[in-house]
Amino acid sequence: MSVLRVVTGRAALRDAYATLPPATARGVVLTMGALHEGHVALIRQAAAQVGPDGHVAVTIFVNPLQFDDADDLARYPRDLEADVALCAREGVDLVFAPPAPELYPDGQPDVTVDPGPLGTLFEGAVRPGHFRGVLTVVHKLLSLTGADVTVFGEKDYQQLVLVRRMAHDLDLDVAVLGAPTAREPDGLARSSRNRRLSSEQRTRAAAVPEALQAGVSAARDGARAALDAVQDVLERAGLTPDYAVLTDPGLGPVPESGPARLLLAVPVGDVRLLDNAPCVLGD
Ligand code: PAF
Repeated sequence: MSVLRVVTGRAALRDAYATLPPATARGVVLTMGALHEGHVALIRQAAAQVGPDGHVAVTIFVNPLQFDDADDLARYPRDLEADVALCAREGVDLVFAPPAPELYPDGQPDVTVDPGPLGTLFEGAVRPGHFRGVLTVVHKLLSLTGADVTVFGEKDYQQLVLVRRMAHDLDLDVAVLGAPTAREPDGLARSSRNRRLSSEQRTRAAAVPEALQAGVSAARDGARAALDAVQDVLERAGLTPDYAVLTDPGLGPVPESGPARLLLAVPVGDVRLLDNAPCVLGD
């Protein structure tokens, strides 16, 4: 097992890769830190994908470009020491944790990645500019690390679809893999933001995966039934979604029947909980 290298600069990143034994492939997991079991699953999937002769790097960077709310950016949990310890336990080869000026030396960049029409829907409608910020930093980090393989959680399904779209449309030479959503014992999707929930909010938050499950089960009776089932569960918990939508698996218009995706965004206190699941409409 190699010793974990932790670097914060571009030159140090290049040097660190140069000191590692030659690898068959580079796996990279992009994160904003505050790592949890969901990230562990991504790291393990990347490691399995590149095999024993590959490298796994984790990037830790709270990307200002994807936050439309300065308070949300300031409150985003940060714990580099714990993150590095987790990466060391998981046998990660390299952590790249740059400060903002390292990635954005000129401040706000002039050239950014346009996420296209899909970037204006759902999360993109609630948080204008969010996906432009996400894709811009993802492009930069994949390029700086020279990733061959990267793994994204399905929890942020729209992000995963958009990163795949960017890799396809911009001919990025990287395989973008999705990993199933990691969940707490009561079904709540794991997220760094969950630690900002009060205990009363945490109890109510369990209604989100419950609503998702109710929607998936009701989907056999059609889209209307699925969305009504979601609404019922959320209403009983006193929650109002920012959106609860059905789409096709690629986030296009919902089909009459067959495979679809159910996506929810539900504010609980000042935390927005995102969740989604595949479902099948009709019998
Ligand atoms: O999913 C996240 O944590 C972030 O959006 C990402 C992909 C690390 C880009 O900042």
